[in-house]
Amino acid sequence: MKKIIALFVLSISYFGFSQGNTHTQAGGKFEGLAMTPPMGWNSWNTFATNIDEKLVKETADIMVSSGMAAAGYNYIVLDDGWMTKERNANGDLVPDPVKFPSGMKALVEYVHSKGLKFGLYNCAGTQTCAGYPGTRGYEYQDARFYAKLEIDFLKYDWCNTKGITAVEAYTTMSNALKTAGRPIVFSLCEWGDNQPWEWGKPVGNLWRISGDIYPCFDCEFKHPENWSSWGFMKIAEMRKDIRKYSGPDHWNDFDMMEVGNEMNDTEDKAHFSIWCMMASPLVAGNDFRKMSKETLAILTNKELIAVNQDKLGIQGFKHSAEDGLEVWVKPLADGSWAVTFLNRSEVPKKINFDWKKNPIKDTDFGYEADFSKTVFKLKDLWKNKEAGTTKKNFVSDLASHDVITLRLTP
Ligand code: GLA
Repeated sequence: MKKIIALFVLSISYFGFSQGNTHTQAGGKFEGLAMTPPMGWNSWNTFATNIDEKLVKETADIMVSSGMAAAGYNYIVLDDGWMTKERNANGDLVPDPVKFPSGMKALVEYVHSKGLKFGLYNCAGTQTCAGYPGTRGYEYQDARFYAKLEIDFLKYDWCNTKGITAVEAYTTMSNALKTAGRPIVFSLCEWGDNQPWEWGKPVGNLWRISGDIYPCFDCEFKHPENWSSWGFMKIAEMRKDIRKYSGPDHWNDFDMMEVGNEMNDTEDKAHFSIWCMMASPLVAGNDFRKMSKETLAILTNKELIAVNQDKLGIQGFKHSAEDGLEVWVKPLADGSWAVTFLNRSEVPKKINFDWKKNPIKDTDFGYEADFSKTVFKLKDLWKNKEAGTTKKNFVSDLASHDVITLRLTP
């Protein structure tokens, strides 16, 4: 009997049925909601707080009509700026009635009616980064609000959190969501400041590993308030040793993409390749209403998406770098490998890659490719073309900031 009671107490605390706002147990995230990296669209990179229901509906419409949804993008996430500046008399969050005159519930229903999923943003602190009401002290109330709206994804930020412990704040919200009962993907956005990869797995389905992305190849953009945003290659390299923490249902999140924003198509291609190689969530951040056909082709490249969504769920890594020419690799579930050649430099380069002299060893996950023992067939995933085998050196020109991504099949 004692055993049964102990089991009961244990399951109550595991599933977070306590109503307090402090955490005493491991988070109880909904398991299995993100077995491959989540794919979708988020409003922040292009629109900041200038969001409204017309934009969301048009974005959802284009997500379906353009083929983005068929390629796998299914979450539409409203970032900061969807609320009024104050909670109502009951302490509830209030969707801004000027931006969303038909109400948030109707908008969620619209997005669901297109076969898509809907997400919202809030923050663990007293206010969001843009100064809207934060969730601190309202975790269970806000979780019930999201469950009632029937949203599917919550991005949870880390501004205005002085004196708060990250693991406690995110665990409390995770438990609150679990208690509210609606399966909601929980996206931790604390920028990697408190090593979420070390404690985030039972708490959330993905966690940001860096400060905000900036639409450039390799720059650091210094904000006057003393913080920086980062070019995509800076983020790709920022946390070299944490790939072992990423995997199905607990992803390292390299941030929303800048494809289709301020870089050229070559750099966008490189950005998309690296996000696929790193098994990062693929969240578009561009204006779909102005999307060029080149941008659409990059975002919907099926073979690259298959690399990202591969069910092994292993984050790739940099294999080697020489004179600005980098080689990134990622093991895949069927015994093949994705290999990306990236010209990090400002001048064109010639690739002449001798596979036999360059075996791959993934010491974190125990995968290996020894090209002197096994021959692999090569397919160029951007050209959608066979490209010989590993018997011969891989020889090609590569423009500055350009990539070639190959799939190697034994
Ligand atoms: C932080 C996050 C961004 C975005 C903004 C919104 O900077 O990291 O992704 O959500 O806040 O204010």
